Amino acid sequence: MSEPVTMAWIGAGNMAEALIRALVRAGWSPSSMRVSDVRAERLEWCARELGVVAAADNAAAARGADLVVLAVKPQTMAAALDSLRGEIGETATVLSIVAGVPTARIEAALGGRPRVVRAMPNTPALVGAGASAVCAGRWADDGDLARAETTLRAAGRVERVPESLMDAVTAISGSGPAYVLLLIELMIESAVRFGLTPDVARRLVLATVAGSARLLEATDLDPREARRRVTSEKGTTDAAIRELERHGVPAAFASAFDAARRRAAELAAGA
Ligand SMILES: NC(=O)c1ccc[n+]([C@@H]2O[C@H](COP(=O)([O-])OP(=O)(O)OC[C@H]3O[C@@H](n4cnc5c(N)ncnc54)[C@H](OP(=O)(O)O)[C@@H]3O)[C@@H](O)[C@H]2O)c1
Repeated sequence: MSEPVTMAWIGAGNMAEALIRALVRAGWSPSSMRVSDVRAERLEWCARELGVVAAADNAAAARGADLVVLAVKPQTMAAALDSLRGEIGETATVLSIVAGVPTARIEAALGGRPRVVRAMPNTPALVGAGASAVCAGRWADDGDLARAETTLRAAGRVERVPESLMDAVTAISGSGPAYVLLLIELMIESAVRFGLTPDVARRLVLATVAGSARLLEATDLDPREARRRVTSEKGTTDAAIRELERHGVPAAFASAFDAARRRAAELAAGA
């Protein structure tokens, strides 16, 4: 599938801006992107700063577009879908990045046989280092998935999963940055408590977290094995890991991920 000729962005918030910037950096033309938002001043800003075309409304943005990206908040999704009913072409791909809204609900609201692809991106997409998963709705084919993947890849990594696993993705990579950020926060706090300056602590911790991920990527090592290699018996790391286990931290993490997955399922069911 080649690059879509025209893209429509429904909702021009943080995520839309980040993805548009990433696409433009990757060589896509902003003048082929029509953007629509309920906030007029935000729309003007996008046209001025990003070089995209401000559409009169959602329907005008979507009409004739090859790819329609739904990027509003979950609570405003029903109104956005309502405004698009009957306005999306038969061959257009609809890419929803709206958390927790199943493809069946989008399809029913749009009417006809819309080619819906649902994605779950995460916050590091804002700096081009995101992790997204995509799944196809009832009418989307491989070409639609490929089109969605090409778009999201500008802002990081993309994986294909069945829709039944989207709640799991939400719990792991969607909410995932917050778990890692909590660890970063705690490491910095202790480093400062030990006497390091906040600046030095922050730089050491960020490099440690990014470096650990890079190490796994570069070596293909299993994380448990990589950890075993840096943990000598009765050494400092061993002392720390034993303390974490004594406090039940591994079990607490597993239970936290379960809670996130349960909540994602509840939200998808409309609770
Ligand atoms: N930010 C993230 O890191 C992240 C990560 C994963 C998934 N997501 C998903 O990405 C979606 C967008 O998030 P965001 O952070 O970019 O939200 P956002 O900054 O609030 O952007 C949404 C924009 O759409 C506008 N809008 C509301 N109703 C509309 C309508 N009917 N038609 C057109 N525009 C409308 C909003 O205006 P008002 O503010 O006036 O409502 C706002 O300007 C969310 O569904 C979220 O679940 C975000």
